[in-house]
Formats: sequence, structure tokens, C-alpha cells
Amino acid sequence: MSFYIAGTGSALPEKIVSNEDLTAFLDTSDEWIFTRTGIHNRRVLTHETLNDLAILSARRALEDAGVTGQEVGLILCATMRGDTVTPSLACVVAEAIGSRAPAFDVNAACVGVLYCMEIADSFIATGKADTVLIVSAEAMSKLLDWKDRSTCVLFGDGSGALVLRKGAGRLAGVLSTDPDSHVIRMPNIEGMNSPYNEHAPEPLAMHMDGGEVYKFAVNAMGRNIAEVCRLAQLAPGDIDWYLPHQANIRIIDASLRKFRIGKEKVLVNITDYGNMSATSISVLLDEYARRGTFKRGDKLLFVAFGAGLTSGAVIVEWGKD
Ligand code: UT7
Repeated sequence: MSFYIAGTGSALPEKIVSNEDLTAFLDTSDEWIFTRTGIHNRRVLTHETLNDLAILSARRALEDAGVTGQEVGLILCATMRGDTVTPSLACVVAEAIGSRAPAFDVNAACVGVLYCMEIADSFIATGKADTVLIVSAEAMSKLLDWKDRSTCVLFGDGSGALVLRKGAGRLAGVLSTDPDSHVIRMPNIEGMNSPYNEHAPEPLAMHMDGGEVYKFAVNAMGRNIAEVCRLAQLAPGDIDWYLPHQANIRIIDASLRKFRIGKEKVLVNITDYGNMSATSISVLLDEYARRGTFKRGDKLLFVAFGAGLTSGAVIVEWGKD
């Protein structure tokens, strides 16, 4: 026995930054960004904190599921960096919703929510928890070099959440890592003022080899879709809805092309939000769930890739409690 998705929520910063807005300080254009990536706008933190968004999306998911903070048996936060190194973002959320459940952060970059789903599966299957709250939250705007047009135009900030409860919805999951510490790299705060530190500080911004990530992404997405379908004993054509990581519309199209999946089955929101790392998939799920897109028994396939390099896919049947 594993989980079903009992509720979803999301929270986004108020500030919308368009491609056109970026041309005020970058040598770029709406035409370049949109044709290369499919992105028009992204949300960016201004007066809000990442904690604010994470707590709000968590509350919305709990309300949607009809679950109180006290009923949650495990809290997992998918994030590359919360507002504080410690307490973890998961502990911040636990305090806000009045939970004393175990709570910790998971850093698997853009694949974070899928890693959290698989951890939740293990906790539920072994009887350690019946209800798991997963919150993804990323402040990408604070990790980027806003002078580097090859990275800063791609990302956005946001938070999404889901409540998983004991049930028979999860059909299969697969996670993997193709370790490479160079193609996407974001150094941590190095040394601070330790008089013993012998390392020169690296520039504190994300560096990415876009072309290498692109090749990995198309390969990894295809490989994970094939593998998770094999584990669930389904054909890619049996899946009702594909929810891919929203990094680049061309990556999504290229990964799915060989499976001959109709475009109407592939959900996207990259145009409005850009790449929100771990948060992309959970906001996508929440938006389409709230529109009533999914019917009981529909099969949803989540697939993602990210820094690390990490990748994975999970198939969940909607409403199987
Ligand atoms: O969640 C995981 C995170 N990362 C990704 O998923 C990224 C995966 N990679 C990609 O999505 C694509 O590789 C990019 C969108 C990053 C780049 O697209 P591309 O078609 O691979 O472009 P490119 O890197 O080959 O750059 C083409 C040109 C270069 O100019 P030259 O050398 O040909 O003169 C760049 O300097 O485009 C230039 N360029 C830009 N021009 C205008 C790079 N960024 C920009 C920009 N505006 N923002």
C-alpha cells in the first residue's frame, strides 16, 4: 500500500517580470527567449520571503485535502536553498502549521518533488506515516547572476505543495543520478570569515552549460518515461496526462516525440513561470487539478531532470484512495 494525492496547493510571488522587462538591463529579446525556451514571463520575489510562499502553499494543500497540521506524519521540503540554512524550510513549515512530525529538506534540484514522493512512498509503505506533506519552494532569483543572460532569463520563483495519504494511487516510480558536478553548479557560502579557510571563494551564482544540460535532459526524460512505464506495466500511450519538468518547451517536445504522445496530453505552464526548479511540477499539478482536468482513474506521469545530475519519473492514478 502506498499513497494517493489527496490535495494540492501553490503560492507565487506577486511580481511578474516579462521578457521585455529584462531587455532594460540585458542584451536579450522576447523573440530570442520565447523561440529558444517557450518562456514569456516569470514570477520574482520582492517583498515576500520564500518562507511566506512555502507556508501559504502548504496551507492551501492541507485545506484542499481536508487535513490539519496535526494529522501530518512527515514533512518534506524540496528546495535547493531555503531562507535559512538552519532551521530547514521543512521545520519552518512544521512550526507554521502546528506539526511535530519529522521534517527535513531534500535537495535534488528540479527533481526534488519526485524524490520526495518516493521517500513518502517508503514511509507510508513501512507504516511510519499515513499522511505526508510535500512542499517545494525555490528562490531562483537569489541564486542567479542577473548579468548572465544565458541563465537568468530561464528561471522563476515559486512554491507548490501536495498532501499524500495512504492509498493505492502510486503505480511506479524511478529515480537516478548521473553524477556531474560541472554542467550546472551553484557554490555554497564559502568559508565565511573562518581564519582557517584556505579556499578562494567561487562566484556565488549559478553556472550552467546549457547545451550539455539540453542533451542530458532529452535523454534522461526519455529513459525515465520508458522505465517507469515498464515498471507500471503500461505503454506510454496508456498515460492520460504527462506532467514534465518545465525547463524548456523544446526539451519537452523532443523527449516525448519518440513516444508519439498527443500534445493535448502534455501539460505546460512554462510560458507564464519559466523554470521554477523543484517547484515547476507541483505548481503545474495544482493548476490543472484546480481546473478539474483530472478525472478519477486518470494516469498521471511526472518526469523531471535537474542539477546533480538527477532525474526521475513517477506514475500516479488520480483519486485512488
Ligand atoms: O532545470 C535544468 C536547468 N537547465 C536547463 O534546462 C537548460 C537546458 N538548455 C537550454 O534550455 C538551452 O540550451 C538554452 C535555452 C539555455 C540555450 O539555447 P541554445 O539554443 O542552446 O542556445 P546557445 O546556448 O547555443 O546560444 C546561442 C546564442 C549564443 O550566441 P553566439 O555564441 O551564437 O553568438 C548566446 O550567446 O545565443 C546567445 N544567447 C542569448 N541571446 C539573447 C544566450 N542567451 C541569450 C539571451 N538572449 N538571453
